[in-house]
Amino acid sequence: MKTTPMTRRDALRAAAAFGATAALAEVASAGQSAIAPQVARPQSATTLMKTIPRWFWEPQDLAMIRSLGLARDASVLDAGCGKGNHVQLFAERCREGRVAALDINPRAIHAVKARFAASDLKDIVTTYEANVLRTPFEAGTFDLAWSSHTMHILADPVAGVRELARVVKPGGRVAIREDAYSVRFLPLDIGIGEPGIESRIHAASTKWLAADRLKRGRVPFGWPRVLKNAGLREIKAASFTFQLSPPLLPMQTEYLRKYLRRMADLEHLDASDKATLLQITEPGAPDDALARDDLHFTDIATIFVGEA
Ligand SMILES: C[S@@+](CC[C@H](N)C(=O)[O-])C[C@H]1O[C@@H](n2cnc3c(N)ncnc32)[C@H](O)[C@@H]1O
Repeated sequence: MKTTPMTRRDALRAAAAFGATAALAEVASAGQSAIAPQVARPQSATTLMKTIPRWFWEPQDLAMIRSLGLARDASVLDAGCGKGNHVQLFAERCREGRVAALDINPRAIHAVKARFAASDLKDIVTTYEANVLRTPFEAGTFDLAWSSHTMHILADPVAGVRELARVVKPGGRVAIREDAYSVRFLPLDIGIGEPGIESRIHAASTKWLAADRLKRGRVPFGWPRVLKNAGLREIKAASFTFQLSPPLLPMQTEYLRKYLRRMADLEHLDASDKATLLQITEPGAPDDALARDDLHFTDIATIFVGEA
């Protein structure tokens, strides 16, 4: 089967393809939760950043992480940390604590090591190349185990969350971020090709994700139940909208340019749409869609939090 260079995150960003529905409001479990005040109400990420973001998703990442209300001395595990954006925010917040950055992919671990090697946060961050299903930590090690866009990759997400629950202290929390929203930023008509290319990108991504999903285990229920079945209690969900108004910043349009160019590799996108994508992402070309002054952007992220 042909493989595409798009990443799982790209695909997730582009299409909704698995069963868990992003909760648009807090989902209260039975009883009043002791952790309820620590999970913020849904809010707009854009209101949180007063400076230019260091990476595209930083406002949304910051909104999610701030909502957890972590103490400065908290110990945090980021399981499936990728290149370490969340590790960075946890370390900046928990300067008297520690952050364990775990990933199964040696390249991710290498990237996190390089990211913090010369940073004043290097003593807070420790990296672990390991499988989230078999972490090297003693039971009851962390105040928070966080895992973003990783549990759905596992054939058995309940087993993954159970391991996260094992390594948090009694009363500590597990927070997973899983959502299935499709980013939106292109107008219906970008002036060339057939109008509606964004919807066709989503459809092609969904096909890719669906095929990938069928190779793994299916999860016929939502993430709150995954957390419950893993032994967590007081389960809550909170969603975070991420909206950008025109005109987008140059760093934002450049991120979206790269994103669209990767979409041109989608196996299930037809040749004319691929050609259009290459044309509209050519910097400075007359059809450069990213040079438009009317682009706005939306995304929603959802976190599910349970107490051990
Ligand atoms: C989609 S990326 C998410 C990265 C980051 N957490 C974020 O939200 O941007 C998923 C990450 O999980 C890692 N991963 C996948 N399966 C894993 C496993 N069984 N154990 C640990 N990490 C895993 C991948 O290597 C990848 O870095």
